[in-house]
Amino acid sequence: MALGAMCLSTAAFTQTNAVYTIDPTQLKATVQPTMYGVFFEDINMGADGGLYAELVKNRSFEFDRNLMGWTITGDSTAVKVIDRKAERPDNPHYINVAASAQGITLQNEGYRGMGIRKGEGYYFSIIARQPAGSNVKLQLQLRDENGKVIGTASLQPKSAVWKKFKVSIPASAQAAKGSLAVTVQGKGTIDLDMISLFPQRTWKNRENGLRADLVQMLADMKPGFIRFPGGCIVEGRYLVNRYQWKKTIGDVDKRETIINRWNTEFKHRSTPDYFQSFGLGFMEYFMLAEDIGAEPLPILNCGMACQFNSGELVPVDQIDPYVQDALDLIEFANGDASTKWGKLRISLGHPAKFNLKMLGVGNENWGPNYVERWTLFRDAIKKKYPQVKIVTSTGTDPDGARFDTLNTAFRKLHADILDEHYYRPPQWFRDNARRYDSYDRNGPKIFAGEYAAHVPGVDDALKKNNLEAALAEAAFMTGLERNADVVNMASYAPLFAHVDAWQWAPDLIWFDNLKHYGTPNYYVQKLYSLNKGTNVVPMLLNGQPIAGQAGIYANAAINSKTGELLIKLVNVSGNNQNADLNIKDLAKYQQTARITTLKSAKPDAVNSLAEPQFVSPIDSQVSILGAKLTIAAEPYSFKVIKLKLK
Ligand code: AHR
Repeated sequence: MALGAMCLSTAAFTQTNAVYTIDPTQLKATVQPTMYGVFFEDINMGADGGLYAELVKNRSFEFDRNLMGWTITGDSTAVKVIDRKAERPDNPHYINVAASAQGITLQNEGYRGMGIRKGEGYYFSIIARQPAGSNVKLQLQLRDENGKVIGTASLQPKSAVWKKFKVSIPASAQAAKGSLAVTVQGKGTIDLDMISLFPQRTWKNRENGLRADLVQMLADMKPGFIRFPGGCIVEGRYLVNRYQWKKTIGDVDKRETIINRWNTEFKHRSTPDYFQSFGLGFMEYFMLAEDIGAEPLPILNCGMACQFNSGELVPVDQIDPYVQDALDLIEFANGDASTKWGKLRISLGHPAKFNLKMLGVGNENWGPNYVERWTLFRDAIKKKYPQVKIVTSTGTDPDGARFDTLNTAFRKLHADILDEHYYRPPQWFRDNARRYDSYDRNGPKIFAGEYAAHVPGVDDALKKNNLEAALAEAAFMTGLERNADVVNMASYAPLFAHVDAWQWAPDLIWFDNLKHYGTPNYYVQKLYSLNKGTNVVPMLLNGQPIAGQAGIYANAAINSKTGELLIKLVNVSGNNQNADLNIKDLAKYQQTARITTLKSAKPDAVNSLAEPQFVSPIDSQVSILGAKLTIAAEPYSFKVIKLKLK
């Protein structure tokens, strides 16, 4: 954030300023450390092709078209796909290649190309075997978008039994849409599987790691929690495609690849090459949560496939394995070496417990079938782990019959946390800033689990994340924060989108194979998260919460640990709005207030790969000269104003 010019808060304003009273001595709601988090789902190539740093697409030949993503040069009949489903249902295919003196080349196109960085190393690995009598070598090339070779290595995978081989390939140039070529040369045949290429530089330089630049964007937000792995992906189009966490841990070659439900979801954004390798699986999710200091919040299938698709149901008398998955997950996360699943976690290299405190049963499920299945989960989980909180769906919408029925039912059932979702136009967000003012203070806590303002009439997906949407969300969030005694958690959705492979927009962070940018919405989320405080304090206009009067939305909190007063002020209007902040005990604060402003002259302003910071926070300072602090809230702006006790 750049440091802007020092500006003085003299009475330089001619119009009558609104007067907002703030009383930092009256502590209201406690803001939970979990208040602002993130929600990750493998949508928009968010995991495979995104956060998961693997560059090879269809590395184990498990896509519906087994050679999708691969181009063969040379005698294509020399490459045979072998089916061993009976023996290896988790990894049913590999290829058998007949080598030749001039070589057969298999080129992988990556996920809309491969991002390759000059000067960095890339780990090529493969699982291979060749019968006695064969003498086959692999010549490896990194290629740029024009086919120019920008890195080479070779490998002789000499083993009669399946074995993993690995070599590093240094890249001599950059490519945004590069590829990997594997030339099979020599005499005889060879069996190949799990052909993989990873940047050596991943997040924390881990093998099977995550894209460092994308994780950094999350770490920078200091999120209170991470909800994973979905979203609708948890439910699956059919139950057979539901997310099953036990199939996503351990050796990556034993994690069964399945179709991604976003592959076929939208006809206009069909993505036939979208599958889930589960290289980013539950162990990686838990470690990611730990790395970025976020509470893990796994969401599990409740025995129902997506109700927008098949709506397939597990009969209640067959639901035990689903419930057992939930119990086993808690043991996997929190158990010690004396437990089956805790022991497994330890054997996977993580002796420390993940300290799982909550989990979700169902994503956007609804209706009596959901309540019935949820109750079975609830009874089993609470019996064994009474301290674990259950996150419960209130359906797909924040109002209407589905919502009302679930809201009533789960309140009667004393649910811990209700998960509300809202994808609505900006006007809805502005109109609903007082939504939670009237919620039952003694009922379940609220998790605003998925939300984003969808601006009507914007066709270009990458322009949907404009400032108007971001400010509507910022305005709405003043209401979440003011009601922090009820609203304990909130997360924008979806989190990531590949600019060439998205299915859903708007999204918080956009990326290509080398670059990324945070949207204005990202900066709103980040500013809230970094400035959440510990307690809400009253901030009023004529005795009322500030929730849209003349286009202004505001809330104040203190951070009792740092001695800061944190004021959020959103101006969604196109007018300058000057505000006098009448702060109790102002004299106790240092004379300089620090302000961070997100703004632009036009509400349709966006960021992009070319201009990633066009709308981004600017830091400034203002001196407090008299008995009040006067703030100029520019048109289309969001400000965080910070005062510190002397
Ligand atoms: O965030 C995209 C999708 O929106 C999620 O998968 C689903 O929960 C919601 O409908």
